[in-house]
Amino acid sequence: MIVAVDGPAASGKGTIARALAAHYGLPHLDTGLLYRAVALTLKRAGGDPESEADAVAATDFPATLLTDPELRTEATGALASRVSAHGGVRAALKARQQAFAGQAGGAVLDGRDIGTVIVPDADAKLYVTASPQVRADRRAREMEQHGLAADREAMIAEIVARDARDMGRDNAPLMQAADADLLDTSDLTIAEAVQKAIALVDARVERH
Ligand code: DC
Repeated sequence: MIVAVDGPAASGKGTIARALAAHYGLPHLDTGLLYRAVALTLKRAGGDPESEADAVAATDFPATLLTDPELRTEATGALASRVSAHGGVRAALKARQQAFAGQAGGAVLDGRDIGTVIVPDADAKLYVTASPQVRADRRAREMEQHGLAADREAMIAEIVARDARDMGRDNAPLMQAADADLLDTSDLTIAEAVQKAIALVDARVERH
């Protein structure tokens, strides 16, 4: 069984994808980490994010980079959003994601174009979203728990800018696949969102 989970930044898609993977006993791939690894490699090499050649060269990162804590920062996320707009970068990462999805027994993948481009024939597809205010609040609370100051207004602006770039690009823009189930987590706790996600996946798989 292959489950595709797509959605904008801080929508809860990562938490939901991890919970689905645990529930169904499937491996999970956070594909955003791949784009973040490209961004960090490019930054460390002093490359230009607007240069497709520089960005494509950075797709050749070692697997060990995927556990680097610097991948998780907001700055790396924003840079990942920029390098991911290049068609050459997306093409270079495609086979790796499809190989993960194709392993025996299946997998759960989360990202922006899993249900539309990477695995269009996934057994179940979720499009996870939440209002920008709720997403900024969640990020701010996360940061405050780590003892960092959080400016909510600046966060809302960053989230809206990242959505606009991810949805507005020419190559594999973020959008809900025609056969994806919408899951708006704005008014849900994590437990409620996970429960709904499982119910939606079960319903899709039964219909197969
Ligand atoms: O999910 P994330 O915040 O870690 O993703 C970081 C950026 O990477 C996101 O803003 C756009 C890009 N991305 C993408 O284009 N396609 C994916 N499947 C996953 C992430």
